[in-house]
Amino acid sequence: MRILGIETSCDETGIAVYDDEKGLLSHELYSQVKLHADYGGVVPELASRDHVRKIIPLIEKAMEDANTQPTEIDGVAFTQGPGLVGALLVGSSVGRSLAYAWNVPAVGVHHMEGHLLAPMLEDDAPEFPFVALLVSGGHSMLVKVEGIGQYEVLGESIDDAAGEAFDKTAKLLGLDYPGGPLLAKLAEKGEAGHYKFPRPMTDRPGLDFSFSGLKTFAANTIRDADLTGADAEQIKANIAYAFQEAVVDTLIIKCKRALKQTGMKRLVIAGGVSANTMLRSEMKALMQELKGEVFYPSLAYCTDNGAMIAYAGMQRLKAGETLALSSQAKPRWPLDTLSAI
Ligand code: KG4
Ligand code: ZN
Repeated sequence: MRILGIETSCDETGIAVYDDEKGLLSHELYSQVKLHADYGGVVPELASRDHVRKIIPLIEKAMEDANTQPTEIDGVAFTQGPGLVGALLVGSSVGRSLAYAWNVPAVGVHHMEGHLLAPMLEDDAPEFPFVALLVSGGHSMLVKVEGIGQYEVLGESIDDAAGEAFDKTAKLLGLDYPGGPLLAKLAEKGEAGHYKFPRPMTDRPGLDFSFSGLKTFAANTIRDADLTGADAEQIKANIAYAFQEAVVDTLIIKCKRALKQTGMKRLVIAGGVSANTMLRSEMKALMQELKGEVFYPSLAYCTDNGAMIAYAGMQRLKAGETLALSSQAKPRWPLDTLSAI
């Protein structure tokens, strides 16, 4: 079976063709980062319009690269939510219409299920069950995963998502949007031991996160730092290092707790922040210590992409799920309300 996958929940137009026997046949991505950089964040209306401009040419390119005709497509999957409603509507309208025109089922995919299943695209895919740490720009959560659609949210952020905290702190350091990867790059030049950021909500039981305090701590640290001298860049790098270390440490503590609570030995880390090098190496060390295994998507599939939507859509298509013509985009959609397949 072959499926077209469409992702338009935020500021990336991602399109992919996935075949359940041959794997990923093509994968196209257009990032709107430059469009939003001047505003320091995603402008929803501009995002929707840019998706409208890019979606059809990208679908044509993905179909061509996959050497696939519409008659060979067995279903069309698109991100139905959560995300920006205008952006979601573009992918939903185009996806639902294509499915209608091609007379195949449409499948509505939950964006975070897409992230969660992205490591399944790799050769060393994890087996169920596992604990998933989902860390993106919009969400941070720990999920107990027994199978596809069998999700128990163990904890989530009560305020900013991890990626959001990276982006906001990066902005305070004068870095462009989205600042997460730029902050991580700056942190590489930073030295340990100059600043000590808090590890929020680690001193009490539970698996929820809170990252907004770290951003405030960063704002105060930057305000109190003397950034007028020749060493300003080094000071900023040291602050970036300490911030990143605090986020990573906090995530490590919570993952360790989640693994202990569930008795599981497999950990999956996905979402944009899972591209972070420090997070990846520290988690690897943790899982070696715990004699368990950690799985990530490859870097291209950590941040938003069409491949993960095509993969998740294929699993639901094979289970017989189809979306009615009257289906609507779901800007808010709790992960644990999905049906098990
Ligand atoms: O999953 P994603 O592409 O979009 C959402 O679903 O939100 O995640 C984007 C987030 C942004 O906040 C971005 O700054 C962050 O992931 N990010 C990183 C890194 N790469 C992307 N954060 C820290 N280190 C990175 N290397
Ligand atoms: Zn995402």
